[in-house]
Amino acid sequence: MNTATSQIAITDLHPSPDDILGDVLAGLSGKPKRLPSKYFYDRRGSELFELITRQPEYYPTRVELALIADSGLEMAAAVGPHAHVVEYGSGSGRKTRLLLDALVDPVAYTPVEISRSALLASVERLDREFDKVEVLPVCADFTQPLALPEPANPAERVLLFFPGSTLGNFTHDESVRLLLAMRETMGEHGSALIGIDLQKSPELLVAAYNDAAGVTAEFTLNLLARLNREVGSDFDLDGFAHRAVYEPAVGRIETFLDSLSDQVVRVQGRQFAFAAGEAMQVEYSHKYTDASFNELAARAGLEVARSWNDPRDWFGLRLLQRT
Ligand code: AVI
Repeated sequence: MNTATSQIAITDLHPSPDDILGDVLAGLSGKPKRLPSKYFYDRRGSELFELITRQPEYYPTRVELALIADSGLEMAAAVGPHAHVVEYGSGSGRKTRLLLDALVDPVAYTPVEISRSALLASVERLDREFDKVEVLPVCADFTQPLALPEPANPAERVLLFFPGSTLGNFTHDESVRLLLAMRETMGEHGSALIGIDLQKSPELLVAAYNDAAGVTAEFTLNLLARLNREVGSDFDLDGFAHRAVYEPAVGRIETFLDSLSDQVVRVQGRQFAFAAGEAMQVEYSHKYTDASFNELAARAGLEVARSWNDPRDWFGLRLLQRT
């Protein structure tokens, strides 16, 4: 179904709404307790994430932007002309703009977002920014295969764009399922350009997720504020502290909210006891090697056709095609 917003029609595939209460109750009943990181991104969470990307310690956004700026023409040559560019999640648009500027005559641009309000906000911006490219937004869950809208001028190929190393916030099994869905959506001659944060010194990684200004801590704690508002929990925001550590054995940043005292949290009549010092796991952010990323791709029937890293090998972009 299409709904008109300004001049741009949104294709609404009616993704099933998140079961936020069910996810919270299940997560708090586990050992260790967990909360899903996908719930970080309410309006305030998205603002705080945007602020994180501007912190001096948080290198991924800056490095990825510079990599697209420096290697965009090579990426464009590898992708080919007349692509329908499909972006998973609608970010701030900075990376999209660089990519669309580099590509040869891109035909259409489709941001895919599960959140209608986030999609509407990006549509307003896109309307102003990409006047030469047909904008065809889709409200859908990008972890599932998608039927893409047809551009008015036929595209020669589909390019899925998934920057930011957002893939790293999924477990490896979830990532393989997502890559399988991408394989389906890209079609036989399509490809996917995926941003991946690479393994590097633990000091740099830990600093990136514990910035001195405390923005990441505020971002993590905002999850509790959101849950208090949306599922009626009574988390005391002063009763928990953000902590992010790097686990080299599994190649990932693990973020926790540590309980600062013995306390009880109530959610819809259920009680969850936290001991002082108890850690609740709230986010993974996987960091890759070539081998670990190639293995994930291979499990999804994909292979790395081209790869680009910044000069320090901190961050990479990989162009995946069907094997
Ligand atoms: C969105 N995602 C790729 C970010 C990351 O680096 O894992 C989320 C984030 N969490 C804390 N800082 C940034």
